[in-house]
Order: sequence, then C-alpha cells, then structure tokens
Amino acid sequence: DGTTLDDLINRDMNEVSLRVMNDKELYELEMERVFARTWLLLGHESEIPKAGDYVMRDMAEDNVIVSRDRSGEIHVMLNVCPHRGMKVCTAEAGNAHAHRCIYHGWAFRADGSFIGAPIEKEQMHGSKRSKDELGLKKARVHLYGGLIFATWNKDLSFEDYLGDAKFYLDQLFCRTDNGLEMLGPPQRFVLPCNWKIPGEQSGSDGFHTLTLHRSLMEGGIMGGTAESIYDTAPGMYGVDLSVPQGHTLRCLEAAQTFKMFADVSFEGKSTEERLNLLPPPGITKDLIPQLFKNLSEDQVKQLANIPPQVGGMFPNILIAFIFAPRMDGGASGALSLHTYVPKGPDKVEFVNFIFAEKDAPEDVKRDMLQNAIWSTGTSGTIEQDDADTWPQIMRNSRGHMSKTITLKYQALHGHERPEGWVGGGDLYPGFTKDDTQWAWWMAYYNMMADA
Ligand code: FES
Repeated sequence: DGTTLDDLINRDMNEVSLRVMNDKELYELEMERVFARTWLLLGHESEIPKAGDYVMRDMAEDNVIVSRDRSGEIHVMLNVCPHRGMKVCTAEAGNAHAHRCIYHGWAFRADGSFIGAPIEKEQMHGSKRSKDELGLKKARVHLYGGLIFATWNKDLSFEDYLGDAKFYLDQLFCRTDNGLEMLGPPQRFVLPCNWKIPGEQSGSDGFHTLTLHRSLMEGGIMGGTAESIYDTAPGMYGVDLSVPQGHTLRCLEAAQTFKMFADVSFEGKSTEERLNLLPPPGITKDLIPQLFKNLSEDQVKQLANIPPQVGGMFPNILIAFIFAPRMDGGASGALSLHTYVPKGPDKVEFVNFIFAEKDAPEDVKRDMLQNAIWSTGTSGTIEQDDADTWPQIMRNSRGHMSKTITLKYQALHGHERPEGWVGGGDLYPGFTKDDTQWAWWMAYYNMMADA
C-alpha cells in the first residue's frame, strides 16, 4: 500500500509501528526474506537416535520431516509429495526406512530420495523427469552441539549465521563430551499473536521480568525477595550483548545471582574453585573437568563468573538458562529453548525444548525437567504471564487508532567494552537496557531491506 520499511521502523526515533504485528503483506515478505534465508532450529539429534527415526517439524509454515538414514546422517526434507502435493508422512514421529504417500503410493527413502511408485510402469509412463529428480526437496542441515538447524539458503554458512555469538553459545551447548540430551518430546501450544511479539522479547528484554513476572520474584519462585526488586534486583545486573546477526544474550554475575539462593563468596577463588563451589546449573562436579576440555580457558572463566543466561538467536529462538532453588537447598536449574514458529500473521506456535547434559545423573535430569516445566514450560509460571500478554498486544494491533502507536526503545545506552572482556559483539554492561532488543530490530530491518 505504499508503506515503506522506514515508515514502520523509525531508525532515527528508535521506534517501531504497532502495525508490523498485523500486516499480511509484511508477513509474506518475512517468509521470503527472513525465514527462507536464515538457519532455523528444529530439534536435537538425541530425539532421533536410531537409523530410520524421524520427527515432524515446521520451518515457518513449511512442514518438514527430520530423519536419520541408515548411515546415521540427519536429513531435513519438505513433507510435500512432488506428485500432487500431499503430505508424505502424516505421523508426528516414528521409525521408518521409507515414507510412502497415502494418496497414490509414491515412496521415498529416509534421505528423501525417490524409491518408486506402485504400478510404476503405468504411473511413470511418459514422465519427463528421471527418478533422481523426483525426491523430496531438501534443506541444508547443520548440527551444533547436537541441535538440528536447517536452512533453505544455499549460501549462508552456519558460522556466518552465529558470528561472534559462538563464543558465548558454546558455553551452553558445546561444553561436555557427550553434549546435551533432549528430555522428552517438545511441548507445544498455539497463541493468537504475531511471531515478532515473543520474538522481540527474546532479544533479551530484562525490564519485563521486574514487572510482568514480579509476583514470581516476590514469592521467591525466581529467587530474590520483595525487597530485592527493581534497581536492587541482582538478576538485572551483568553484561548484555548483541551481534549484528540479531542474536542477543544477558550474562549475569554468577556471585550475585547465586546470592539469591545461597550465601557464598567467590572472593580470592580460582575459576576451578568457583565452579566447584557452585557449578553452573546442570553441571555436576564430575562434569567440571569436561568444561576445561571442551571450552577455551576464557570461555570457562566466563561460565564460572558471568555466564550467559537468557537471550535469543534471531529470528525466533529464546534461550532460557535458569537458576532455580532445589528443595535440598542446592542450586540447580533448567535449560530450555523456545522457538516461535509463525503460523500466519496472527498465530504463532510456541515450541519448548527441554535439555540436560547427557552424562548428568538421572536425578539431576529429573530436576532439570521439573524446573523447566514449572518455569518456562507451556504451563510454567513464567510463560503463563507472557502467554496472557502477547495476545493482548496482538489484539491492540488491529485497532484503527491503535495502529498509530509506536513501540519505543528509549533505554539505549550504547555499547561499551568492560575491561578485560574477551568475547566479541556489542556489549552493554550494568543494569538491563533496551539496546539488545533494538539490535534485534536492526537485524530484522537489514534482512527485510535486502531484496
Ligand atoms: Fe503423493 Fe500422489 S500425491 S503419490
């Protein structure tokens, strides 16, 4: 309708029109310029350990089969039969070395290649295509710490997608010998809102924790007390960071965060002593030597002192690495990833993946699972707050007058490198800010503007 991207995203004022949350044309462009061009998280290899195992997932609105073939390789292919467009696989998960379309019987291997059709002589009579051309359309696949990413983009390397965020994300996903294990199938529910409403929040919105989730802090559920809210909340201090790709993280002072649960002092202690005193959530003392083996010295030092805890990977992944008190008084935690999968301009599927270290004892895994369910699970105390708020923003985006409102990102302080900081990216030390969320919008702007 003549509206430009600059009309919707005002880079001089650092404001975004509420209209972006409810625009069919913009949504179609997002499918093409964002979701078809970037890497998307689909699951974890521990979900499909055996040859023939598969799960069904979505890359935005494209349904895909994620499967493991006989050689152990993982493939991601469009679940659209090249004959007449039917779903080739209709189950959510299972084990099959071949998928046969129920419509006319065309069959495909676990790597997507075409096997054949029933009464093949007749069905293929007159075909202008060879069998090689009749396989399922395949996406490129990359495994990162066992996480399954896929893209339709032929050019973007996974390294370029991660950029400087790799230094920090390795500390969560690539730190032990046998890596992570997904605890059960993902939890899913559909919310009536645009994907960018949770998406921009995943750009490390720290402020909403203090208000929307205030009752959780007051009740001690997220640690802290009624007295340690707002500017005295320890969880609000640390170093926020962003990279041009739109990935963001909030790294929180471990000693401060731990103080919400236990009275400890890190003073004068080495990295190893600090880790042994209070291992990061999900890491048992037995696993600490593996951190030194799999990560660089600088990465382990950061993990011990100011670990990355919450944030997001552009465009639609939330990372929640949560400290949680245990009944026995020790510190445990949860590691969850959400994806916000677009299902139309006004609908998003919230998918919650829950993890623990594969080599952690069973009781720690159970603890991590419980913590993740009660905090960031689909019925979790944190997500209930968010799941009430996001649809209300969506509803407002439909009002004639409401569309004139802009979203304001005024708490911008600019980046500043703390002394001795080793990792890359733009850094924003101190109290939480809006800089990372604005960086999220700038990544969005750049992808959308690139025709
Ligand atoms: Fe699949 Fe015809 S649509 S075999």
